[in-house]
Amino acid sequence: MPIVNINDRLFGLQTKDTSYIISLTDEGVPESLYWGKRIDCLEDFLDESGKKLLLKNTHGSNLIREECSSFGGTCYKEASLKITFSNGVRDFRYRTVECKADGESLEIILEDKSYPFLMHLYYEVFPEENIIKKWRRAENRGKDPVFLERIFSGEYGIPGEGYESIQYKGRWGGEFQEYNETVDSGKRVSESLYGLTGHTVNPSFIIHKKATETAGDVYYGALEYSGNFKCVTEAVNSGWLNILIGITDTDFLWELKEGECFDTPAVYAGYSDAGFEKMSHTMHTFCRRHLMPQPYAEKPLPVLYNSWYSTEFDVQCKEQIELAKAASETGVELFVVDDGWFEGRNDDTAGLGDWYVDKEKFPDGLSELSDAVHDLGMDFGLWIEPEMVNPKSRLFQEHPDWIYSYPGREVIMGRNQYELDMSNPEVINYLTEQFDKLLGENRIEYIKWDMNRYASEMGTEHLLPSKWKELSYRNTQGVYSLIRELRKRHPYVEFEACASGGGRVDFGAMRYFDEYWVSDNTDALDRLFIQESYSRLYPAKYMRSWLTDDKEMNSRTIPLDFRMHAAMCGALGVGVDLNHISTRKKERITEHIREYKSVREIIQFGDLYRLSSLRQSDICALQYVKDDKSVLFVFLDHERYGREDYSVRLRGLEADKRYSLEIDGTRCVKTGGFLMNYGLKVKLCGDYDSKMICLEEII
Ligand code: DGJ
Repeated sequence: MPIVNINDRLFGLQTKDTSYIISLTDEGVPESLYWGKRIDCLEDFLDESGKKLLLKNTHGSNLIREECSSFGGTCYKEASLKITFSNGVRDFRYRTVECKADGESLEIILEDKSYPFLMHLYYEVFPEENIIKKWRRAENRGKDPVFLERIFSGEYGIPGEGYESIQYKGRWGGEFQEYNETVDSGKRVSESLYGLTGHTVNPSFIIHKKATETAGDVYYGALEYSGNFKCVTEAVNSGWLNILIGITDTDFLWELKEGECFDTPAVYAGYSDAGFEKMSHTMHTFCRRHLMPQPYAEKPLPVLYNSWYSTEFDVQCKEQIELAKAASETGVELFVVDDGWFEGRNDDTAGLGDWYVDKEKFPDGLSELSDAVHDLGMDFGLWIEPEMVNPKSRLFQEHPDWIYSYPGREVIMGRNQYELDMSNPEVINYLTEQFDKLLGENRIEYIKWDMNRYASEMGTEHLLPSKWKELSYRNTQGVYSLIRELRKRHPYVEFEACASGGGRVDFGAMRYFDEYWVSDNTDALDRLFIQESYSRLYPAKYMRSWLTDDKEMNSRTIPLDFRMHAAMCGALGVGVDLNHISTRKKERITEHIREYKSVREIIQFGDLYRLSSLRQSDICALQYVKDDKSVLFVFLDHERYGREDYSVRLRGLEADKRYSLEIDGTRCVKTGGFLMNYGLKVKLCGDYDSKMICLEEII
């Protein structure tokens, strides 16, 4: 049983490998007693909950690892809830009034001692996947409004000191740069105020103590939310770490009227006793099984061609047909026209909002191109940016009040565009009909949904100024409702998310999008670092990666094989200008696409083993394992001191099974035990050398 009701004050949330124990203190405060490796005999916890740390003159709240700490009273640590009652009272003094355990879910209901206000703490256990979901509901049962100033999704207290926190700092073209910091004192805050999760930090936490890929305790979690968020890790002065994550409270205020409820987004968390690799396997499996949308969660993603790096805004029907022909010859399965296909879109100053096919570029409509693509045996896709409008557009001329703005203030531009007020149902309805029409009238099997500016001036004419601090949250819900409705009406369209590359990588977007365009940086070496960090929590299947022409980001030349191998580590795409390419290069790309197709199920659905990283060694080695098959990619960025041989110890194989593999033209058979302990000798030399090696179990 995943939820074990040890007694009416002690609950065990049991997954296959982990235990999360919650107990109620004598005052009725739910506290986290234990989170870690699975303990079967939960009765051992019976006499533990009353035992407090003995620290003189330390406030109670700093001694208890609360499941729902609340600002006010003598809570001086960062709290996960802050409310204001209409008479000015600004604390939540509660007792637990009910605990409802039901198979895989638990609800703990907290009620204020004086006011008709309730907090529901929800837990759902995914036993097979070793994940626990938390979320909360605030409920106002009184007549007077209650103001929610902060309502995070989850709180996690872990005993001990000296924890390290991994976060991903980033920017356009430089997403997912990994930073590891010790949180020994005070607080560490990662937050987005960009209106979406943004490039700067990721809405997730990874906490560990000197963990490695394969050893050490790791506590981790990710928020299912694509808007402004905050994650605080605080080294509490009585010797433990508190982790809070949820919607940010900066510029947030939610008025809860009589009888109303507010639900937080969910946070999914887990514990690994064997380093980052186990964490990644857990999260990847969980994402594929429970977050990523159907039907594509279970289908291998097609090899895609995207026009952006070849033609940018200069989209012409004939030229695109030529590109499509060349793409189909290489084995591409899905041809996508990026930005520039719609009315007035010749550069980034105009057109957004007018989702009508440009008659000058497509005099006979889109069907000329889409028919040609389909006749070539490929699917057809388009780029859109639904949340945006250019001032130079019909939409803006007709509805200047549909953007976020403050009275008397100029609206700050980002990439020459404004943000549509996605909190306004009128806007959502309009967009739904526009895109429904586009998808209904044309044969379109794929959409790349982009988003290229951050939020500013979050004010709107359709809501009173007193509600404007709700806008950021409402905006995110508006985006979700649009994609949800489009998916409902067009269930077989594959949707890719992008926000200037990696500006919206989170579990919230993953619920609605089949894949993510992680970065506009296609430099293969940079990409290896970005992809490695991305892979910590996000699966390869949710990572589009393309081969493009050289020097797209950095002024260096990297050989085609290395670039192709780097792109093959996720859902492969191609963005090379195939209309201007040598026959030799095209043939090589064709060969690689054929190879990729033969291993893509292993990459997209297998377990990833990061055997070696360029952060700590001379080579990057990535191995994917699915059932009896495995594929290994090894990359050397530059040769050092004449060394050409690298020994790579594989993982995830079965020691006594025999595997057939071919390396440098020689086929051999080795046992899993040999490959995982002695290792595989891989020859790499010069600058930017790489290899792909396939293994298959033989009977
Ligand atoms: C930004 C995206 O990240 C690019 O891939 C491309 O789609 C452009 N927008 C198009 O304007």
